[in-house]
Amino acid sequence: MLEIENLNVKYGKIQVIWDLSINIQNQEAIGIFGPNGAGKTTLINTIIGLVKAESGNIYFEKNSLIGLETHKIVRKGISLVPQERELFPSMTVEENLKLGAAYIPEAKNKIEENLDFVFSIFPILKERTKQKAGTMSGGQQRMLAIGRGLMANPKLLILDEPSLGLQPSLVIELFQKLKEIKKTGMSILLAEQNVKQGLKVIDRGYVIENGRIIMEDTSDNLVDSEHIKKSYLGV
Ligand SMILES: Nc1ncnc2c1ncn2[C@@H]1O[C@H](COP(=O)(O)OP(=O)(O)O)[C@@H](O)[C@H]1O
Ligand SMILES: [Mg+2]
Repeated sequence: MLEIENLNVKYGKIQVIWDLSINIQNQEAIGIFGPNGAGKTTLINTIIGLVKAESGNIYFEKNSLIGLETHKIVRKGISLVPQERELFPSMTVEENLKLGAAYIPEAKNKIEENLDFVFSIFPILKERTKQKAGTMSGGQQRMLAIGRGLMANPKLLILDEPSLGLQPSLVIELFQKLKEIKKTGMSILLAEQNVKQGLKVIDRGYVIENGRIIMEDTSDNLVDSEHIKKSYLGV
């Protein structure tokens, strides 16, 4: 469903993504693993049209995304849960969730249905609909941010380091939720430094270092890879 071919991205004169090619098939969960500064967020922001590609192609369901504005890309069925969560802290859980559907005509017609879906994945949000987002715990806010992304009714859900700053038990819980989301048939692109937990969610993953893909394999093979073990799993 998503095909990226020979992508190059620069900030000014500094190139941060080099000749990068990845693909995501329907219903597939894909990992983009790499250390801080590797280029994960830049790649995601380029897909979603927040950063301009220097060269290369990005196709979503065979249509090029290059040059499209972000809101048009989102409308095609790609939803981003950004690294900076960008919730509205003084608004309620319910208001934040509904904003996730605000700019997408198809999602606007399915608000109640999508709310039910979000609440089925994250029951805690249903208990807290009237609570102000800013008063919730870090883990709950993270779930709300993902819930908001789901309200757009996307075909592809992109998550930029959802585990960041969460205690280990919450990371495990959160990634369990991602597995539930994946079961519904949604495609997932998960950017993570937490490779150990990330590998449990994804079908296939890419390793990005210094803006280049240096490995691509199934999650089972990545778990067994010496490079992954040494550099990311600490074994
Ligand atoms: N807006 C920006 N302007 C200039 N350089 C940037 C900008 N954003 C990120 N970078 C640089 O690009 C590289 C990749 O960053 P980033 O995509 O945020 O990596 P990651 O998400 O994997 O941590 C880093 O060297 C970072 O310093
Ligand atoms: Mg990042």
